[in-house]
Amino acid sequence: MPREQLGICAEGNLHSVYLMFNANDGVEDQLRPCLANVAQYIYELSDQYADSAFNGFVAIGANYWDTIFDGQRPAQLRPFPAMNEGNRDAPAIEYDLFMHIRCDRYDILHLVANEISQMFEGLVELIEEERGFRFMDSRDLTGFVDGTENPKGRSRQEVALVADEDISFKGGSYVHVQKYAHNLSKWNRLPQKKQEDIIGRTKQDDIEYASEDKPLTSHIKRVNLKDADGKSMEILRQSMPFGSLREQGLMFISTCHNPTHFEEMLRSMIYGDGHGNHDHLMQFTKALTGSSFFAPSLDFLAQFAN
Ligand code: HEM
Repeated sequence: MPREQLGICAEGNLHSVYLMFNANDGVEDQLRPCLANVAQYIYELSDQYADSAFNGFVAIGANYWDTIFDGQRPAQLRPFPAMNEGNRDAPAIEYDLFMHIRCDRYDILHLVANEISQMFEGLVELIEEERGFRFMDSRDLTGFVDGTENPKGRSRQEVALVADEDISFKGGSYVHVQKYAHNLSKWNRLPQKKQEDIIGRTKQDDIEYASEDKPLTSHIKRVNLKDADGKSMEILRQSMPFGSLREQGLMFISTCHNPTHFEEMLRSMIYGDGHGNHDHLMQFTKALTGSSFFAPSLDFLAQFAN
């Protein structure tokens, strides 16, 4: 099995830094080895700062992939599917590169972010930077625990990593990122029971509603999907809260062995089930971005190292 980039399946951290870059024109020959070096550096730091659970990954944008890795493309890599219905909007904003680094020490993250940015100097332009943090006991800023039903143990790898179906890209992962800005004053005016009905779980104790009590418009009803064979469609979420008083919300990050599971869930949230039942959580948050990437295995990137 090719070595995966460790941030794809890592357990949660206290802090994160998200860097979105666009590449300068004509720098591909220098950028390829640079990406390999950055991914290897992140991999080595995971060992060096193991006591602070440092991890991360480098991912390449769907629209940039062919420019940098001419010829070989992950079988299902495609742009972010922009969606809009009523006042529910999921815009597509693509970037060439995504650096995702996380750690339980903020100072280490800041240092590494600077070093990565220096390694890329002259090759890319930093377009977006966000910093995420653990809120209370791993809650979203809505006050609900986020991540409870994520795959656990070895099934994190099974869900997140490409296996034998695309052998050249085995160990890689399809990554989707959406930056959601919450309308917290609107959300906080809702009585707790109404909030719970919207999520489909209790707030304090994070208990899942019984199936018959789950509104069809609740978030977990809308994202709990099965494929044509009746198998659960799963993703591994690596989301964290971000922001300041000016703008705050969730950096939603999905990693998966295919792009379809994320796309179908988002479709179900925005367009609903065909009977008018869409995700009511969307009335309290707004997706500002939507980007599609592929995070190749460390070994795929290593072939370009110098
Ligand atoms: C579950 C919050 C966006 C997919 C949950 C839960 C919360 C939550 C509180 C319940 C606890 C848990 O199992 O983690 C949010 C917020 C979002 C957001 C605040 C955006 C502002 C999304 C998006 C997707 C998604 C865009 C996929 C397209 C899921 C899945 C589950 C889940 C798969 C687990 C469902 C289950 O198996 O019960 N989310 N979510 N979420 N969410 Fe989201």
